[in-house]
Amino acid sequence: MIIHTIEELREKIKEWKKQNMTVGLVPTMGALHNGHLSLIKKSVEKCDKTVVSVFVNPIQFCPGEDLEKYPRTLEADEKLCSDAGVDIVFAPSPKEMYGEGHILSNDFLTYVIPPFFYTNKLCGKSRVGHFDGVCTVVNKLFNIVQPDFAFFGEKDRQQLIILKKMVKDLNIPVEIIPCPIVREESGLALSSRNKYLSDEDKKYALALSQILFNIKACYNKGITDVKALTETAYSYLNEHHSLEYLEFRDADDLEEKKIADDNTIVFIALKISDVRLIDNIALK
Ligand code: PAJ
Repeated sequence: MIIHTIEELREKIKEWKKQNMTVGLVPTMGALHNGHLSLIKKSVEKCDKTVVSVFVNPIQFCPGEDLEKYPRTLEADEKLCSDAGVDIVFAPSPKEMYGEGHILSNDFLTYVIPPFFYTNKLCGKSRVGHFDGVCTVVNKLFNIVQPDFAFFGEKDRQQLIILKKMVKDLNIPVEIIPCPIVREESGLALSSRNKYLSDEDKKYALALSQILFNIKACYNKGITDVKALTETAYSYLNEHHSLEYLEFRDADDLEEKKIADDNTIVFIALKISDVRLIDNIALK
């Protein structure tokens, strides 16, 4: 069942809560693939009722990013959700979420701003304001759906860490369930943005997972010096890759690591033909 308005969704949620049902929320921007599906399956399994939101959130895109061309495939998304046993697909318009005229600057809209220490690095460095937009929309979705559980992928690990921090700092009564990265057999992490890649580019995109897998293999052999671990990466890169970052950070607070340990996440972002791809791996 698809619902476009907050009011209609609230009515449904009220009914469920009256019957003491647990509610799971899977926030997405649509163009659903097997990565999203793994979150959806977990929610359907764990919760009495599952809501999947499909909303390309304008306030998390920076100027010059792909807001207009971001893939929108609502009909197919709805089918995938109903086949997976989802109870409601919530697909609001920007106007429904942000109001008439939707002036989206923080001069006019109340934002939830995550701490600078978490957002001034990795993706937040090049995507200034991105995580403000993410936290604001996820907070709105939490208030609308009031889920018991919310499912997020480790694919967007910085987002997951920041959202966990938001829930803790603001005492939001929801449990965040982290879900592992789903990859193609080749190793490439599934992403809605993979649709922008040509067949040729997809081959170059394998560098991300190859670099991460190789670093983990070296760590497992006992190498912990981050400089030494980083050096192994460059042999996977060529003129088609524009590396944005390759960083070793703490899994809880994103502090930089000079010596890798079991609580280290290796983060990578690079561009291929102007398509920005991200990936990460936990060394444990
Ligand atoms: P979106 O990119 O659509 O991703 C929705 C959820 O699916 C996120 O939690 C993301 O981490 C997860 N996901 C995507 N690809 C995955 C993969 N290969 N394996 C496992 N999980 C994967 O992330 C967003 O949307 C937005 O920022 C959102 C949280 C919805 C706020 O607008």
